[in-house]
Amino acid sequence: MKIIIYGSKYGTTEQYAQELSKKTGIKSEEYTNVHDINQYETIIYLGALYAGNVLGMKKTLNKIEDCSNKKIIIATVGLADPNDKENTDGIRENIKRQLSNDIFNHVSIYFLRGGIDYSLLNFKHKTMMKFVYNKSKKLKEEEKTAEVKAILETYGKKVDYIDFNSLNPIIDEI
Ligand SMILES: Cc1cc2nc3c(=O)[nH]c(=O)nc-3n(C[C@H](O)[C@H](O)[C@H](O)COP(=O)(O)O)c2cc1C
Repeated sequence: MKIIIYGSKYGTTEQYAQELSKKTGIKSEEYTNVHDINQYETIIYLGALYAGNVLGMKKTLNKIEDCSNKKIIIATVGLADPNDKENTDGIRENIKRQLSNDIFNHVSIYFLRGGIDYSLLNFKHKTMMKFVYNKSKKLKEEEKTAEVKAILETYGKKVDYIDFNSLNPIIDEI
């Protein structure tokens, strides 16, 4: 059995999960609704990035008891440019820290770009972004990472970088 699992706070990752589900015929479920992950042979986990962490991933995937016969795909959804190697290397490192070695060595990882609508952010997230924005503004050009650039470009706005074509390599792998 195959499943698409997603962790999404404001809906962009959920949109990717629903599109992937439509294109592959595999059912999608929010991570909070998945109670027995071990019954699935193919697991595609789509998670939004929040301060480098993939929402719900650690909690969900570390419940896998034996991954040797499973196909596991992780796709992150963030604002920073997925074509920036420093950015994707950083995400990969964070994923490595959050998963057991067995699982990490077994997964394929993809990087998708989401979006943000500041008018929808909760108080905690607005405050966090304001803090990061104020710090980012002061950086010199050469100090600005892809993440910093994304925050400076989008701060206070509504932006949508969702590109369903970026799901194609994942569909090919499934
Ligand atoms: C508090 C906060 C922290 C974030 N941290 C990151 C991050 O570390 N890297 C990144 O690329 N995007 C980051 N983002 C952007 C989100 O990953 C992006 O908006 C994503 O599309 C959200 O997915 P969702 O709509 O499914 O919740 C952050 C956004 C907020 C509000």
